[in-house]
Amino acid sequence: MLVGDKVYEGRTKILYNTADPDLYRLYFKDEATAFGKRRGAIAEKGVYNAQISTILFTLLSEAGIPNHYREKIGERVLLVKKLVMYPLIIVVRNAVAGSLAPRLGLEEGFQLLEPVVEYYYKREGADNPLLNESHLNTLGFISAGRLQTCSILALQTNLLLRNYFAHRGLLLVDFKLEFGLADEKVFLGDEISPDTCRLWDVGTGEKLDKDRFRWDMGGVEEAYREVVERLLGQV
Ligand code: TMP
Repeated sequence: MLVGDKVYEGRTKILYNTADPDLYRLYFKDEATAFGKRRGAIAEKGVYNAQISTILFTLLSEAGIPNHYREKIGERVLLVKKLVMYPLIIVVRNAVAGSLAPRLGLEEGFQLLEPVVEYYYKREGADNPLLNESHLNTLGFISAGRLQTCSILALQTNLLLRNYFAHRGLLLVDFKLEFGLADEKVFLGDEISPDTCRLWDVGTGEKLDKDRFRWDMGGVEEAYREVVERLLGQV
C-alpha cells in the first residue's frame, strides 16, 4: 500500500496511510446517516467534528486517558495512532434517552443514579446488537481483562467530559466510544463529537447533537456550531 492510500472509508470518516507506519490521517466528512436508512449531509459537520474531537481528545490526553489523537493537521484532518479496533461500541449513559427509553420504559431525561455502561457489537449488516459480558466471553474477540480496562477508561472519560461540558452549560446525556489495540495496550479511538454524544443545554434542555438530524428537527448545523463555540468559550 502506498503513502496516502485510503485504508478504510466509513459513513462519516476516511482513514488514509501516511509515511509514518504508526500513524493514519483521519478525514471527517459532512455526510450523516441515521437508523441505517436516513442519509444526508450537515454543512461543515466534518470541520466541527474534527475541531471538537481535537479539543476533547487533548483534554483526555492531559488527564492520562490513552487515545489515538496525535495532531490536527487540517480543517477536517487529524493525525492519529494506528490501532487494531475491537468490533465493539461502548456506550455510557448519565440520563435516559434514545434506545434506553423504550428498553426500560422510562421517560427521556430520567436521571440515572449512576452511569450505565453498555456494549454493542459493531457488525456490517447487523443493527449493532446489544451485548452483555456473557455474550462477549462467548464471542471471544476481547479478553475479560481488556474489557475491564475499556470499561474503566469509558467511565473515567465520562467523569472528565461530564464535568467539562457542565462548565460550558451542556449536559452530557450519553455517548459512545470505540477502543483498539496498539503496542499490546488499549487506546481510545474514533471520534468524540455531537455525532457520538447527546448534549443538552443545561438551562433549556435544547438538543445540541445528532438527534436534531435523526428526528429532522432542523437547526442541525447551528447546533454543532454552538457546541464548537461553547468549547472555545465564545458564548
Ligand atoms: P442509543 O440511545 O441510540 O443507543 O445511543 C446512545 C449513545 O451512543 C448516543 O449518544 C449515540 C451513540 N451511539 C452512536 O453514536 N453509534 C452507535 O452505533 C451507538 C449504538 C450509539
